[in-house]
Amino acid sequence: MNRESSNVSKTTFTSRVFSGIQPSGGLTLGNYLGAIKRFVAMQKPEFETIYCVVDLHALTVWQNPQELAHNSRELCAGFIAAGLDPNKSILIRQSQVPEHTQLAWIFNCIARVGWMQRMTQFKDKAGKNSQNASLGLFCYPALMAADILLYHATHVPVGDDQKQHLELTRDIASKFNHDYQIDFFPIAKPVIEGDATRIMSLRDGTKKMSKSEPSDMSRINLTDDADMIAHKIRKAKTDPEPLPMEIVGLENRPEALNLVQIYAALSDQSPEFVLQDVGGKTFSEFKKMLADLAIAELVPISTEMKRLMSDIGEIDHILCSGAEKARSIASPILQETYEIVGMT
Ligand code: TYM
Repeated sequence: MNRESSNVSKTTFTSRVFSGIQPSGGLTLGNYLGAIKRFVAMQKPEFETIYCVVDLHALTVWQNPQELAHNSRELCAGFIAAGLDPNKSILIRQSQVPEHTQLAWIFNCIARVGWMQRMTQFKDKAGKNSQNASLGLFCYPALMAADILLYHATHVPVGDDQKQHLELTRDIASKFNHDYQIDFFPIAKPVIEGDATRIMSLRDGTKKMSKSEPSDMSRINLTDDADMIAHKIRKAKTDPEPLPMEIVGLENRPEALNLVQIYAALSDQSPEFVLQDVGGKTFSEFKKMLADLAIAELVPISTEMKRLMSDIGEIDHILCSGAEKARSIASPILQETYEIVGMT
């Protein structure tokens, strides 16, 4: 079937941004700098922006029901506290827009088992006992592709660790378009930009900062108070050398490089520019500056998150109206997909 001969109308792709975060525990500085801060930066007139609490993705590993419900609302509160405005962006909870799972099923039938087996995040999360991993964890990237393509999103801001999933999303869109001989799904552009696409652990500069890392000292949580942020930065692993004047001097010093990149991302400067300012300083001086900066940016967000969480009804209302707006975009696209595959 080609586009002209089908009775499906030609789609024009508006610049639409989609991204999501799992409500599987609290937000980290990595989520904030690698994702949320960039979501806020993309909230501008040339883009339609949709940001999603991906609770169905979180369910691919065991979640305590009460905690999942709490964390989903808290993540939405984090979105708003960090600057996402429900009047400018559509904020949704994945499970409240059933079209995500409907399209995911079609994509489960497009994607190949071999594609899923190559996903490094599946291998990492499933660990040695992959036979015991949930089926949901295995086909997780097809649901992620559905999240994005359900809205014909053109831009997807994410951290570096999502790159392979976005390549798979492009593969699914291409295979669908090829199999049905139609130019229907856009090839979404991953937006992995800036110096904060991979924030590393405070205890080991070769490992990603993550909410699943056992040591709480390895990360800054968006719910940490000022004392805790200062304490974690003071205890962050470094090396005995002072900071260099140029970034080339940090090549083999992952912990030092990470702290400079965090400083750069928090202050919206390049690491090169930061080093012109702090090069030659000792780590104790620099850590004090970094802690002050982190506290100034993060504490107002966590305070606002707490305030928002005192009115759950308001958060539910925002998510409910987000779901309505999202469904008005998603439902015709799903309907067209159904028509293309023969469910007419
Ligand atoms: P998740 O929940 O693991 O992470 C959410 C976002 O935070 C980024 N991130 C980081 N960025 C920099 N440094 C870090 N240390 C760091 N840790 C996390 C992630 O790259 C991500 O952008 N599969 C996704 C969620 C998802 C999604 C989607 C994203 C589901 N559907 C559709 C985009 C579009 C995930 O598990 O992200």
